[in-house]
Amino acid sequence: MKILKLGLIGHPVEHSLSPWIHTQFMEQAGIEGEYKLYPIEPDVFDEKITALLQSGIDGFNITVPYKQRIISFLDELDPDAAKIGAVNTAVRKNGKWIGYNTDGSGYVRALEQLIPAQESLHVLMLGAGGAARGIYRALVANGYRYVDIGNRTVSKAEQLLQLQEPETITEVLSYEEAQKKLESYDIIIHTSSVGMSPHDHEQIISLANLKPNAVVSDIVYKPIETMLLRSAKQQGATIHHGHSMLLYQAQYAFEIWSGQQVIIGDLLNQLEQRLTEA
Ligand code: ATR
Repeated sequence: MKILKLGLIGHPVEHSLSPWIHTQFMEQAGIEGEYKLYPIEPDVFDEKITALLQSGIDGFNITVPYKQRIISFLDELDPDAAKIGAVNTAVRKNGKWIGYNTDGSGYVRALEQLIPAQESLHVLMLGAGGAARGIYRALVANGYRYVDIGNRTVSKAEQLLQLQEPETITEVLSYEEAQKKLESYDIIIHTSSVGMSPHDHEQIISLANLKPNAVVSDIVYKPIETMLLRSAKQQGATIHHGHSMLLYQAQYAFEIWSGQQVIIGDLLNQLEQRLTEA
């Protein structure tokens, strides 16, 4: 039987949870395979990646800082990955290397476990970096119509407007403006690294004007419950933790590599336990 050869490239990758996640998926799907870590130093990236692509590996994930740098080594890009300008999943199909971005779609899948997509929902996305690009694209591609973007540097948020669909309505805001009109949003999504350990005490904006029953989502998963989520909880909001994105982006990548559907089930609890113990 053929063994599915998978892995992760990045710098650093040593503490990645992806080998554990994909091992669970392989077991669930009854697939024999491996998911190895490939730490690559930036100065040898070109040689190492060329060798990896020719090594017989079937697919791999790409993490920081190579999500853009990988693109010129691939043969084709999925249209959304091309728009986003970043690839986190590569697959070999009929001898060609194809790049996808499963981060944003994975995020939206995770969010939809909590709140089904509805065109009428008003979303505020905070941050306009690499993670935000993928998430914004996935939101508008999945039919979210009203998605405003708040960012410290407003001009950077404006660059995301290229990713819109014709029906998308997006206002770009400073954090001050976002705080003032917070009660007009049903879903707040935080996509920057503010509040990530060891800066646990930081919070991107004040939630003082939060709409009752809003959903507050944070892609930061270290700590599992960020200051932003704690403050949202205190106000009675529904909260959505960042580690679910990790699982759903991996689920989508696994489907691309194996052609098989896998379920998240209890993996969410197991991952939470691993992160809490780490
Ligand atoms: P990533 O690829 O992880 O999203 P990035 O591309 O460097 O990282 O983007 C970082 C995001 O976090 C940006 O929205 C950035 O705001 P600016 O565009 O104004 O730089 C935001 N960010 C990072 N540190 C921040 C801080 N201390 N306060 C507010 N925003 C911050």
